[in-house]
Amino acid sequence: MSMLPGDRTLPIPPVDQPARLAALVAAVWARTPLVPKVGLVLGSGLGSLADGLEDVTSIPFDDLPGWPAATAPGHVGRLLLGRLAGVTVVALQGRFHLYEGNDPGLVVQPILLFKQLGAEIVVLTNAAGGVNPAYRPGTLMVIADHINLTGKSPLLGQNADELGEHFTDLTDVWSPSLRERLHAAGAVEAVKLDEGIYVGLLGPNYETPAEVRMLRGLGADAVGMSTVLEAIAARWVGLEVCGVSLVTNAGAGYDGVPLVHEDVLAAGAEAGPRLAKVLRRFIAGL
Ligand code: HPA
Repeated sequence: MSMLPGDRTLPIPPVDQPARLAALVAAVWARTPLVPKVGLVLGSGLGSLADGLEDVTSIPFDDLPGWPAATAPGHVGRLLLGRLAGVTVVALQGRFHLYEGNDPGLVVQPILLFKQLGAEIVVLTNAAGGVNPAYRPGTLMVIADHINLTGKSPLLGQNADELGEHFTDLTDVWSPSLRERLHAAGAVEAVKLDEGIYVGLLGPNYETPAEVRMLRGLGADAVGMSTVLEAIAARWVGLEVCGVSLVTNAGAGYDGVPLVHEDVLAAGAEAGPRLAKVLRRFIAGL
């Protein structure tokens, strides 16, 4: 098994994760002794939360064994360890997406690394399109459940029984108690939070209007191209999971305007700091 350089397409079945994680943990411990309680994945527009970290150790993705550099626009691509509101956290600024051609085993490796570093809770954030017609750009949606339409699972192939069960239960992926805490943090900060179902697709193209109507029929409220494999992997290794989608645009076809990636990111810029306030308050209370 080659550790270097990071080949994003190399299949990484579960059974190969322990050796890769050992190399990753060693690389992190060579740089910082911090033991995180919480792991955060910061999607597009959440940079301001990373700016609030204290005593930061910052590691570019491609300085870590087997990790390629981030390619997606709007994603910086580094692992951060530090303190947020007095709580030790590890944060992924950017992430690995399937649509970059990344193997599912690589997409979820940061989550598995969080667990190996000592985290107990993971907070997943993303930018998403509104499938619920009531969701305007800027809506913040606590994820109540997800629908995985990527056609992929990070658990495909021979299992690593020391990490988790092959037939992982997904009944309560999105922790009811953490969702309650998110809503409580939103109330304290006077930031409105909706709650709904996130559907994850492969991308990188946005959906057709017919697909958006289909997704609504399936029960989805927001659509994006990330998060679902990370949530599955987190449950596999026994992390508690919660997350928030930042709705950057109405789903394709709802308002007749073509979707342009740069516009989508810009629309998210306003809501990012609002979500950052909520997450900071949430983390302070853990
Ligand atoms: N569809 C899928 N992913 C997205 C969207 C969308 O409309 N907006 C932001 N990420």
